[in-house]
Amino acid sequence: MIRIVSAFALAGILSLAPASPALHAQTAPGPKEVAQEREDLMKGLWRGYYRDMSQAAKGEGDPKVLAVKATEAAAQMKKFGTLFPAGSGREGAPDTRAKPEIWTQRAEFDAAVNKLVAETTVFAEAAKAGNVEGMKAAWPKIAEACGACHGGPSKSGGKFRFEE
Ligand code: HEC
Repeated sequence: MIRIVSAFALAGILSLAPASPALHAQTAPGPKEVAQEREDLMKGLWRGYYRDMSQAAKGEGDPKVLAVKATEAAAQMKKFGTLFPAGSGREGAPDTRAKPEIWTQRAEFDAAVNKLVAETTVFAEAAKAGNVEGMKAAWPKIAEACGACHGGPSKSGGKFRFEE
């Protein structure tokens, strides 16, 4: 039950996250640029995809639209996993909230990325089939997969993210 409750808390609190400044690097990406890219990607994941998908937990939203969103979200999340080159922790990008554990416990981090991709794909398949109950059942598992890396509230920390 606690996990389901926290899934809703995540949905509610993250929707209040402030907009990120759209900074784009003009030169070859260094550690700061790659850190900015993954932060923007994460913020966009919530605003662009998962916020709408969270509506499915209440039985709302068009499954056809959510199927497209979930498929794109899974692709974005796969990309997120590639945005952690060596040297892009706080040693190279002082403002990043990415914890050193990402590099020292890489297998676990990659597994957490893959877990979210897998749960998001389960959601996408249910949405494609127009299976509303399937989407409802998939949503708390997605929220739980987010929680493997960090807590729900935008300032919260966690295993792989520093508190703000
Ligand atoms: C594999 C680990 C991982 C998973 C899973 C994950 N995140 Fe993140 N998330 C991070 C890391 C690391 C950062 C910090 C990135 C940085 O600062 O470089 C972050 C940052 C964020 C931010 C931006 C806040 C900020 O300023 O740092 C939001 C919003 C966010 N995540 C939402 C989500 C949501 C929603 C989910 C689930 C749908 C999710 N995350 C799943 C690792 C993860």
